[in-house]
Amino acid sequence: MSIQTDLQATITDMVQKGKGILAADESAPTIAKRFAAISVESTEENRRFWRSLLITTPTLGDYVSGIILFEETLTQKDDQGRLLPQVAGKQGIVPGIKVDQGKIPLVNTTGDMITQGLDGLADRLKVYKEQGARFAKWREVYPIETHTPSRLGIDANAEVLARYAAICQSVGIVPIVEPEVLIDGDHTIERAAEVIEAVQHAVYHALHRYGVILEHTILKPSMVTPGKTHATKATPEQVAEQTIKVLRRSVPAAVPSINFLSGGQTDEEATANLNAMNTGAAQPWELSFSYGRALQQPALHAWMGKKENAQAAQAALLKRARLNGAARYGKYKVKMEKE
Ligand code: 13P
Repeated sequence: MSIQTDLQATITDMVQKGKGILAADESAPTIAKRFAAISVESTEENRRFWRSLLITTPTLGDYVSGIILFEETLTQKDDQGRLLPQVAGKQGIVPGIKVDQGKIPLVNTTGDMITQGLDGLADRLKVYKEQGARFAKWREVYPIETHTPSRLGIDANAEVLARYAAICQSVGIVPIVEPEVLIDGDHTIERAAEVIEAVQHAVYHALHRYGVILEHTILKPSMVTPGKTHATKATPEQVAEQTIKVLRRSVPAAVPSINFLSGGQTDEEATANLNAMNTGAAQPWELSFSYGRALQQPALHAWMGKKENAQAAQAALLKRARLNGAARYGKYKVKMEKE
């Protein structure tokens, strides 16, 4: 298969009506934090058990078409000794891999960040591909403060995302491009809209300069919302209106799918907001999810680190997946939470 055919096949498998992506790629410190919240130690066995529980959830593939894994999961096995990426594949869920190596301060700025991991990326990707990964994810992070993101921050982060995406495509891996504008702070929804528009403009300008084929990419953006500590919350309709306006101004129609991160929204907010985006006029791209916390949180609390709770945890995950699946069609109703 040529690289282009390979990339298109992955997009076709990942971009499906009524489905989205499960982010299960928490880095070692992040998964330790999530486990600590339920008093579970982050041992390799606990991480294997948890991620295997997620992947083996019966019928998850009805609502989830892709899963983002962390490096160690690629070589871990379920209780029956089957490699986890293969178990995902059997469920109709495309396995992918987080390939960035985390953020550091961007020097000579007053608070911008930059993500590391480009050196040796092509070689790492070839290994991940042999282990079953068909797509990758890279996250750049933009805090909203008085002087951030700066022009330098916006340009430098766009450059890195574009270099990553071009390298992925050169080895037949579909890049998920994730410019995460953080929800932290007390900024207004208008300020979030301004920042996200500027960030995405720079990202698409850079992707073009690096020759990235947009048809073979997925965008994973933040929704446009007020800051988490802002005095008033926005309704799902307001979030949808502002988010779609910004996306229409900055994301070319060649991009097949936009899969939002949940970024600290509650699970129900993330579902209601996605639903509102899918109730209006048709858009050039699919509007879907790539949630971590908003899919996993209720399941983690049902599990609490106990083997005997595994089924309850899978039921909690499946419920969120199903409701987000409904939100892909604009058919989610709050009362479905109780059913
Ligand atoms: P959240 O949905 O929890 O923000 O996680 C998505 C993700 O992959 C962040 O990089």
